[in-house]
Amino acid sequence: MNPTCLARQAFDSEAFAVDYYRVVNPAPEPLGRELDALAGPFMADAKLDAQDIEGSKALQRLGFRKVCTQPAFVLDLAGARGAAAGEPQAACALPETDLAAHAANFPFSRFGLDPMIAPEERTRHQARWIANTMASPDVLKFLDNGAFVSFKIRDAVAVIDLISVLPAARGRGSLLLGRLKAWAAARGLKRIEVTTESENVPACLFYQKNGYRLERASVALHMRK
Ligand SMILES: CC(C)(COP(=O)(O)OP(=O)(O)OC[C@H]1O[C@@H](n2cnc3c(N)ncnc32)[C@H](O)[C@@H]1OP(=O)(O)O)[C@@H](O)C(=O)NCCC(=O)NCCS
Repeated sequence: MNPTCLARQAFDSEAFAVDYYRVVNPAPEPLGRELDALAGPFMADAKLDAQDIEGSKALQRLGFRKVCTQPAFVLDLAGARGAAAGEPQAACALPETDLAAHAANFPFSRFGLDPMIAPEERTRHQARWIANTMASPDVLKFLDNGAFVSFKIRDAVAVIDLISVLPAARGRGSLLLGRLKAWAAARGLKRIEVTTESENVPACLFYQKNGYRLERASVALHMRK
């Protein structure tokens, strides 16, 4: 069968050591058939607009679990001025101990909120994600002691990939967002976008305190068989 509703995700499959699929077409009938045809253990996820209540119910009837709501916050840079406070880094690496500490710093990620994913699976996945992010020349980052923010530029938008501040470095998060804002404004970018989880109240407060506003939200659904 030629799958049209599910796309295998190479990175997640490797990080979780099990076939991992993303729903690319949520039409319930063909999706149900493709899920039924999968042999062996697998994981799958789907992302829908949070207001798509019927779509979300249809996926839950197929066995998906609603794991969290993911609000997207935006900082509009219209009128913002910036004297760029240094250039971000491209490819780099974190010391192993820092990598492990940052990997454990995301209990509110959608994998951290999923009761079917063990904490060690979540931190292994997160560690690989952070290591990939650091190694990638296409993901830019501002680094500080115990803290980093990574982001990509798409059109004239800076999209934050990850931001992590270890508890001992608290306060550096706002400093990093300030550096990113100054750099992005100096480059003439239009906005900065970031997605988090609604359970991550500290992060939601953090973005609002730094001038970001809620723009939209998605719902993350997971399946593990
Ligand atoms: C979210 C995070 C980046 C904030 O960085 P930080 O350096 O601690 O934030 P700041 O000290 O600059 O805080 C600014 C504001 O954020 C909010 N905030 C930060 N930490 C908070 C906490 N533990 N509880 C409640 N609000 C918090 C507050 O509104 C704070 O303002 P205040 O100090 O006047 O109360 C950091 O907590 C973190 O790394 N969390 C784990 C990783 C994560 O969830 N990243 C975001 C994923 S999208």
